[in-house]
Amino acid sequence: MFKNYFNNSIMIVDDKPANLKLLEKMLSEKGYLVRPFPKGMMALNAAFNDPPDLILLDINMPEIDGFEVCRRLKSDDRTKQVPIIFISALTETLDKIKAFEIGGVDYVTKPFQFEEVYARVKTHLNLKATQQMLEEKNQLLEKTLSDLKNTQNQLVQSEKMAALGVLTAGIAHEINNPVNFIKTSALGLEQDIKDIEQLLSFYKDNCITCRHNDAAVNEHLESLKKEIDFDLLISELPELMNNINEGVSRTQEIVSSLRLYSRMDDFDLKKIDIHSLIDAALVILKNRYNQKIDIKKEYNMMPEIYGQPGKLTQVFTNILANAIDALQNNSINRTESDKKRISINTSVQSRGNIDYIQIAINDNGYGIAPENLDKIFDPFFTTKDVGKGSGLGLAISIGIVREHNGMLEVDSSNESGTTFSVLLPTKEEK
Ligand SMILES: Nc1ncnc2c1ncn2[C@@H]1O[C@H](COP(=O)(O)OP(=O)(O)O)[C@@H](O)[C@H]1O
Ligand SMILES: [Mg+2]
Repeated sequence: MFKNYFNNSIMIVDDKPANLKLLEKMLSEKGYLVRPFPKGMMALNAAFNDPPDLILLDINMPEIDGFEVCRRLKSDDRTKQVPIIFISALTETLDKIKAFEIGGVDYVTKPFQFEEVYARVKTHLNLKATQQMLEEKNQLLEKTLSDLKNTQNQLVQSEKMAALGVLTAGIAHEINNPVNFIKTSALGLEQDIKDIEQLLSFYKDNCITCRHNDAAVNEHLESLKKEIDFDLLISELPELMNNINEGVSRTQEIVSSLRLYSRMDDFDLKKIDIHSLIDAALVILKNRYNQKIDIKKEYNMMPEIYGQPGKLTQVFTNILANAIDALQNNSINRTESDKKRISINTSVQSRGNIDYIQIAINDNGYGIAPENLDKIFDPFFTTKDVGKGSGLGLAISIGIVREHNGMLEVDSSNESGTTFSVLLPTKEEK
């Protein structure tokens, strides 16, 4: 809103009392709140304490002159926005360039033409009000933009968690496997430990003090070893330990993939190992492709890139989940050599003068109908049954990739299946 200029306060600084009186009278009559000062220092202190809306400032004054007062006002945060109009006598040669250079917005000459002074004061007050209004609008826009970004971020997060909901049963199954593995091995280990304890206590009771070969003791020992199948026990111990360790690693892998996927990224970019993000997506989806689809990985050396790990994992999970969906359809007659397959290839590509890392995910499924190719990135476009597809996966994925200044491309045909390529710029521009 424009401020009513009748309430604007104007500071006048002039060492000549007659000028000060004249300007004060003229401007007060126009309804401004006028604050007259005969000295630069006094005016400076008053302006810092209570910044006016505009200052009329005489240049030639004893002690500190108008230019110096202006310089100090412009270098202080409290007063740097206040417009300053210099006052100079017609008889003085005014250094106009200097006046503007140090931050003055205009000048008026003595003797005063009141209509001219009034017009200039009014113009600069209006300009200042407009500028202030623009700044406020700008701040509002910035806030709206940041609110919008946050909302968008939350939307992305909601869809991600909804997708995870669908996968939960499969993931629970994936966790259950290694946990069962650990449990069975731990039971075996428990039995082995009991046997070893039995053997040890026999040693303790019979062998610790026995210095000579005692045939009876030896015989008993051998029969005990046989009873507990000592050789087998010793040979299976490392295997049981191994099983437990492997089960723990697999569970940890699933948990850390889930954590990576579920994290709500802030806008800060983190150093990323792209292959570990793809692997996390594969772990999350494992139950959906395991033993049904061949996964072929061709990972190449990648330059380091920065990005949002949770969101990028979401992109790979979306694309891979779509590929799995496409392969679940059994309408294609497959030969032995044409098994269901997803190939993942990473490489470095140049486009224009920018280097990108490219993650190409190809499936030999039924492909995308040509008439749908330009619709698949639209929000809510889906060819899947109700409850199976939200149609948001690719819309969100392309948003995330663009947020990384990257590209998401698709190539699809009946023969070669479908390839989605995620291109993310590497750090340096050539
Ligand atoms: N690999 C693919 N093979 C065949 N069609 C695909 C593939 N990926 C995506 N699509 C098509 O794009 C549509 C939109 O995908 P998406 O945005 O992930 O939503 P949704 O998976 O919920 O349908 C899918 O319904 C499907 O028709
Ligand atoms: Mg999808």
